[in-house]
Amino acid sequence: MNCIKISGPNILHGEVDVQGSKNAALPILAAAVLIPDISVVHNCPKIADIYHMISILEQIGCKVRWEGTSLVIDAKEIGDSRLPKEYVKAMRCSVVFMGAMLARRGEITLYYPGGCIIGKRPIDLHKKALGLLGAVFEEAADCIHAKTDGLTGSTIRMDFPSVGATQNAILAAVTAQGRTLIEGGAREPEVTELVRFLNCAGAKIVLGKKGQYEIEGVRQLHAVEFTVVSDRIVAGTYLLAGVASRGHILLHRAPVWHLGSVVEVLKKLGAKVTASGDCIELDAGGGICPIPYLETAVYPGFPTDLQSPLLAALSLAEGVSCVRERIFENRFAVAEQLRRMGADIQISKDTAVVCGVKYLVGNEVAAGELRGGAALVIAGLCARCETMITGCRYIDRGYEDICRDLQCLGGNMELMT
Ligand code: UD1
Repeated sequence: MNCIKISGPNILHGEVDVQGSKNAALPILAAAVLIPDISVVHNCPKIADIYHMISILEQIGCKVRWEGTSLVIDAKEIGDSRLPKEYVKAMRCSVVFMGAMLARRGEITLYYPGGCIIGKRPIDLHKKALGLLGAVFEEAADCIHAKTDGLTGSTIRMDFPSVGATQNAILAAVTAQGRTLIEGGAREPEVTELVRFLNCAGAKIVLGKKGQYEIEGVRQLHAVEFTVVSDRIVAGTYLLAGVASRGHILLHRAPVWHLGSVVEVLKKLGAKVTASGDCIELDAGGGICPIPYLETAVYPGFPTDLQSPLLAALSLAEGVSCVRERIFENRFAVAEQLRRMGADIQISKDTAVVCGVKYLVGNEVAAGELRGGAALVIAGLCARCETMITGCRYIDRGYEDICRDLQCLGGNMELMT
């Protein structure tokens, strides 16, 4: 079984490139299904979730090939509207095929993506939005069949700005008949990047304020070439690793415009952060300041995906911090593993109270999900002695090669196979 071995403590120093964004690339690959032609998607990260997405695309009839870090997708012919169980179950994001396949084929059968360790993750908002556009659903114990006689534009008021449900609604609406107005949709960059991709392919989507999307249905989309933005969560993870280790690092190809709330938090932690073009430099030579209160929020708030890496950094702060999780109910599972390394974290409902300790000590710990796994890597880099992290397959879902990147920053770590 693969595991990551880290010898610490490390003070990170150096420069690294940020990979393409997982959460932006995944719905864009699903959107390629809507285009009865060739889509060329540059800067795709080579990670497990992208490989799963490719397998789904191939199963439904697309021809997909890598050219360097670009994916070339030929979706001229789409056959099967049943998505393969093994990949759908493995990856929550497969749910965005609903909107794309309803638009292209008029039907889809999908195994429930199911819950996962970070929370229940229902799909009621997806179904409500697609239902308003003309989809009807038949549900069995473990799968859902959606079909339509033709999608028609509608007004969709989202009860909560769900990222996936907004993406699904947009995908279904771009070639629907007439005009769709989405109100209260998600504003995450992963949604606006999907909009940019679709508009490059001939869609007519106008982005309004406060999560409003105005979509004029077009008959057909055309071939497109597009570059995926850099990953704000990977960038944030490495910046938090820089803070936790009191290092001095430079990120190239960083999505500077998407990191506003993260940079604010890095500054509160005591780091000096400067951005120039698409580079971010972080100097965290002093101590780590505690953060009296912070809550995760939808964009442009502090992202839930960086909450666990932040907990790792706060474990070493000079005082008490309080972090409230507002998006996913079970995002604190990693606290138990961090405690095994000496962290002092108490969880009460949706809030974590972190009393900073002087040092962490390496131990054998297990990643149970993606961002919690990244938090353990940060803790391991800063801890005294040796840390062994199992469950690397979760980390591989989002980080192309976390060992390679952090070695570039001077981290003494390796992947043991
Ligand atoms: C996406 C990201 C994930 C990120 C999250 C929030 C991808 C592949 N994943 O997930 O990394 O943490 O956005 O930024 O892009 N909800 C419902 N009903 C629904 C849909 C969602 O109750 O039908 C709830 C969820 O349980 C959760 C909250 O809404 O509590 C946010 O979920 P959502 O924004 O949909 O996140 P995802 O799209 O699943």
